Amino acid sequence: MQKNLTYMAMMIKDGIEQAPIGVFDSGFGGLTILRDIRRVLPQYDYLFVGDNARAPYGTRSRELVYEFTLQAVKHLFKQGCHLIILACNTASAEALRTIQQQDLPTLAPDRRVLGVVRPTVEKVGELTRTGHIGVFGTPGTIASRSYNIEIEGMYPDFKVHGHACPMWVPLVENRESDGDGADYFVKKDIDLLMSQCPEIDTVILGCTHYPLLINKINQFRPEGVNIIQQGPIVADSLADYLQRHPEIERHCSRGGTCRYFTTEDPDHFSPLASVFVNEPVNAQRVIL
Ligand code: DGL
Repeated sequence: MQKNLTYMAMMIKDGIEQAPIGVFDSGFGGLTILRDIRRVLPQYDYLFVGDNARAPYGTRSRELVYEFTLQAVKHLFKQGCHLIILACNTASAEALRTIQQQDLPTLAPDRRVLGVVRPTVEKVGELTRTGHIGVFGTPGTIASRSYNIEIEGMYPDFKVHGHACPMWVPLVENRESDGDGADYFVKKDIDLLMSQCPEIDTVILGCTHYPLLINKINQFRPEGVNIIQQGPIVADSLADYLQRHPEIERHCSRGGTCRYFTTEDPDHFSPLASVFVNEPVNAQRVIL
């Protein structure tokens, strides 16, 4: 087994501590977010960590999702990251609030951890006409009702209809997103969501793996239904955040690099990761 190849990414520039922006996911899905973040903000350095050895998170208990996510956050802080994006809906839905409110004040009060649920929710108001929003997510994300709470808090007239798709992540992880099995499950889950309410006109892909199924989703979605992919939304929201928070931005190093770490075998991770980010990936192993 390869040894744990952690490294210290922090450096001092003009007397200021600088380090890559940390991006975390349970596995591969967060790479769909990272790809869009790097497209919008190519000037920064990034450090991606995928906890592939313990993925999927979507069927785990809330306690474990919190525990694993906190380990990843602590690891990225140790590498010097001042800003971490939880590019995972399950971690954002089940762990982010506790980390922000309970852990950050003692762990690193001047650093930030952001998620993907809030920026997505801020966008739905622009897209729906009927106010009926569908959400596809992992069983954990849907059970947490995070999207319901956030959307109905921000837009009290809207109604949120969640549907868990436990087969979609395994389809992606097993490179079956273009196969016949994907046809069956994507059609079935779209039909089940729409049967909750035919007025749904906007559907959030509330799992960072799901953009890899977009061809199938577009094939089976009813006409007139908008599908919201999070990558571009999270990327724009991060650009806006960095502009509004120079005290965080000045700690983000600007070298245009991206390093990939996985808790699983890098020889397994790298080929599939390169499909997600559309460029060669040479990952290293990390123990959280
Ligand atoms: N990437 C995770 C998310 O966005 C899903 C994968 C998992 O279940 O670990 O929820």
